[in-house]
Amino acid sequence: MTTNEQTKKWFGDWANEYDSTLGKVRRHHKLLDLVVARSKVRKNDQVLDIGCGTGLMTLKFLRKADCQVTGVDNSDAMLAIFKKKITELGLQDKTACKAGDAADLEFEEDTFDICASTVTLHHLKNKLPALKKIHSILKPGGRLVIGDIDVDTTGRLTDPKRMLRILDFLRQEYALALKEGGIPAFSRMYDNGKKHILNDGEYCISFPQWEDLCRKARFKNIATRPLPGFEWFKVLDAVK
Ligand SMILES: C[S@@+](CC[C@H](N)C(=O)[O-])C[C@H]1O[C@@H](n2cnc3c(N)ncnc32)[C@H](O)[C@@H]1O
Repeated sequence: MTTNEQTKKWFGDWANEYDSTLGKVRRHHKLLDLVVARSKVRKNDQVLDIGCGTGLMTLKFLRKADCQVTGVDNSDAMLAIFKKKITELGLQDKTACKAGDAADLEFEEDTFDICASTVTLHHLKNKLPALKKIHSILKPGGRLVIGDIDVDTTGRLTDPKRMLRILDFLRQEYALALKEGGIPAFSRMYDNGKKHILNDGEYCISFPQWEDLCRKARFKNIATRPLPGFEWFKVLDAVK
């Protein structure tokens, strides 16, 4: 199995428990709320939620403004939950959902006012081509907003300093998952920790590194904001 297929399987297996594990962690909702706030979404905006998962952020966009959201994800199991929620809430007119890979987004140029993504783009090993594609599918003046983990996991896997840096992040993450999501959330995060350490489908970089890649993808007005109270999470916004 390729790493991409393993990641798909990981999220496929997690999908049914996603909302009752990470979805219970308040920090996660704060991250999504900050991304939606930084997007400055307005009535009639066309929004793309990249790696939409079960639709937690899509629903926040729809609550914030009378916009149109397209969710894209490469996990059929995640998309099935997304679609079920949208149907139950009667929001089919306001949303579309598409199976697709964040590394190869199949949309026309100049389509979206906002491209937003939370804890998804770090799964791409090669991030620059994806950012260039996002730049092309945004309308002129459109906004990219990324909410993600701020930890540099690049470098030699056997470098102890690198591992200790990742463990600093995981230490807080495990405690939070256990406290707010209970044992199921902790177990999921605990298994996920090894993936971060071994760069097994998890390729987190720091926000200065994200900023650098966004500059290379020709984004302007790039700014990173902290998630208050959570040092390992940041939100970047940038303009086409
Ligand atoms: C940690 S979840 C985040 C879901 C949602 N954005 C949230 O914040 O609740 C990561 C999501 O990205 C999706 N994903 C991972 N790699 C992807 C890829 N290469 N292309 C599209 N989706 C991907 C997974 O299936 C999963 O739904």
